[in-house]
Amino acid sequence: MKILITGNLGYVGPWVMRRLRARCPEATLVGVDMGYFAHCLTDASVLPESRVDMQYFADVRRLPRRALEDVTAIVHLAAISNDPMGKAYEDATLDVNYRASVALAQQAKAAGVRSFVFASSCSVYGFAEGGARTESADVNPLTAYARSKVLTETALGELADERFRTTCLRFATACGMSDRLRLDLVLNDFVASAIATRRITVLSDGTPWRPLIDVQDMARAIEWAVYRELDAGGHHLIVNTGSNEWNYQVRELADAVAAAIPGTEVSINHDAPPDKRSYRVDFSLFRRLAPTHVPELTLVDTVRGLRAGLEAMKFDNPDFRESQFIRLKVLTGLRSRRLLNDALEWLPQGAELSQAIQVEAGRTGVA
Ligand SMILES: NC(=O)c1ccc[n+]([C@@H]2O[C@H](COP(=O)([O-])OP(=O)(O)OC[C@H]3O[C@@H](n4cnc5c(N)ncnc54)[C@H](O)[C@@H]3O)[C@@H](O)[C@H]2O)c1
Repeated sequence: MKILITGNLGYVGPWVMRRLRARCPEATLVGVDMGYFAHCLTDASVLPESRVDMQYFADVRRLPRRALEDVTAIVHLAAISNDPMGKAYEDATLDVNYRASVALAQQAKAAGVRSFVFASSCSVYGFAEGGARTESADVNPLTAYARSKVLTETALGELADERFRTTCLRFATACGMSDRLRLDLVLNDFVASAIATRRITVLSDGTPWRPLIDVQDMARAIEWAVYRELDAGGHHLIVNTGSNEWNYQVRELADAVAAAIPGTEVSINHDAPPDKRSYRVDFSLFRRLAPTHVPELTLVDTVRGLRAGLEAMKFDNPDFRESQFIRLKVLTGLRSRRLLNDALEWLPQGAELSQAIQVEAGRTGVA
């Protein structure tokens, strides 16, 4: 078994490598990543990539053909991975998340790859009032990021057949500790804020619904998808990935963090305009298809894990929203040092020495 994992040098990747390595110690694991955030390690005891057999520092938009030789399964995580980055770099988002994903799947199918697992997102539901959304509900992508996921899911459906199994895992918003932590995710932001300032400021009125999943449980779901049989979902499967118990309103999340970190005050912006993103999601199909791989962690476990991880890093930065734990900040920093061009491709290192250019970055946001 040879498994190619794209985007493995990000937040989710380190857990996926760990999980797949544990499941199948003799498998050949190959990573492919541009390395935008490779330097953003958080107190890892070993380099997470020591768990792969080979690492390509490559752009999925120009993957060397040999990377697909003898590959059995692909876990496709590489993406411009949230709404604020999608807003600041819309063309690159559609290019990487949609066009390159479909091209990769086409190449993979031609090369005889059997299973293609795509990290999609529940953000495809956008603003969805009423009950929890099932996979058959209409999607309502409100951002370039969400649109890129819907377009890719549709194109994968057209490629899937008995020889090429595609699985689109529509993940809830991730949370939890990782060797490459992100603090631009709602729960992670709240825990970091509570630790650094003993205060959580909820920018909305706290009512939007936001299903969450711990990053370790994402890796368990990916493991399931890599190995799933055809009778669990057919050639092309789109499945909401998370659990019904993890549908929370944002203020509940803030209260849970405050309860876990004594002395934390929560402030809610009661005058905020309604949040554009709010949805409840029905995860029953995932439970039915993957009963052995449903999320196991509780919200309390995740908050505890984050707290322990941040304390081990001696984290105390109240300005963390300007730091390298925020994906948009890192990309914008690389752009302004002329290490990346508009298309988010690496430029020759020498460009760093030339005069910094102005980059118009979107507001740092929280997913
Ligand atoms: N974190 C979440 O809340 C969440 C929720 C739902 C879905 N997802 C999806 O899961 C996947 C992983 O998310 P993450 O949180 O680890 O994101 P991340 O930003 O931490 O990691 C993404 C990785 O992709 C790499 N990458 C980007 N463009 C590339 C390119 N052209 N070629 C090669 N590598 C490239 C980056 O260098 C990075 O290491 C993404 O597809 C994301 O959309 C994440």
